[in-house]
Amino acid sequence: MAGLQKIAVLGAGNIGGTLAQRLAEADLARELVLLDIVDGLPQGKALDIAESAPILGFSTKVTGSLNLEALAGTDLVIETAGLARKPGMSRSDLLTKNAEILRGHAAAVRKHAPHAVCIVVTNPVDVMSYWFRKVSGLPGARVFGESGSLDTARFRTFVAEALGVAPRDVVGFVLGTHGDTMVPIPSLTSVNGVPLTGLLPEPKLQAILERTRNGGGEIVNLLKAGSAYYAPTASQAELARAVALDEHRLLPVTASLDGPYGLHDLYLGVPAQIGAAGVERVFEVELTAAERSAFQASAAAVRSDLEILAQLPSGAS
Ligand code: LAC
Repeated sequence: MAGLQKIAVLGAGNIGGTLAQRLAEADLARELVLLDIVDGLPQGKALDIAESAPILGFSTKVTGSLNLEALAGTDLVIETAGLARKPGMSRSDLLTKNAEILRGHAAAVRKHAPHAVCIVVTNPVDVMSYWFRKVSGLPGARVFGESGSLDTARFRTFVAEALGVAPRDVVGFVLGTHGDTMVPIPSLTSVNGVPLTGLLPEPKLQAILERTRNGGGEIVNLLKAGSAYYAPTASQAELARAVALDEHRLLPVTASLDGPYGLHDLYLGVPAQIGAAGVERVFEVELTAAERSAFQASAAAVRSDLEILAQLPSGAS
């Protein structure tokens, strides 16, 4: 059963194309439009996906377009456009370039799809989510970013591998920024309720935390051209599904904060309840002293990126 009328995926690169495929196959909407500026790319990928429908059995009608007016009637927008990281590049290096790209998209959402929920994926995602909300003028609850759900998937993978347990049985959180200052939370990680603390020797746990922090960079270094897109799109599809089916999932996302954790006017990765309205609730969790100070450092890193962004005209009225 289709949950939404229309989903728009902005950007038809590796992320946008793979995400469109996952969303179509999950049959979450009656229509899905894939948008890009490179003529032929969104149309070609959309047609290719559409031609898999008879085999796979989904009913979502998939089209590609170069025209942002195709956002009209969209209930869920997923912003994937922007430059991907190259080896040696930090997410913050992408800041100014990607802000320019998102400015046009956010303004188009404000004009053509003012009632949509928007999931931002473009890096640096905590900053881009803030920027997208500001330019679009949408309420904070309706703009959030994919960050911790991907980092948490990596953390869970490495923990599962070390313990020899099923990846899906490892539950936990990575909070803070989707960047070098991300904060994996071992104190809230368990194997289906059995606390992680005590299951792994400390040096092994520290190695896993370090690998998680470098999770995106590890893939960039292996691929050499481009960054990860299988795990990222799996995580984005999980978020999209939570919105489309109003699932009220508790997932770590970068959310608009005005109060929780003593933070104001900031986007940062926190556990949030996700449903049809976007972020329905932010959960404040108990952190150890070390986790709390890492979380504060994460907030400071996003604030310093936001200062760079403050120099740019937002174009918001
Ligand atoms: C990553 C990039 C997409 O973490 O941010 O893989």
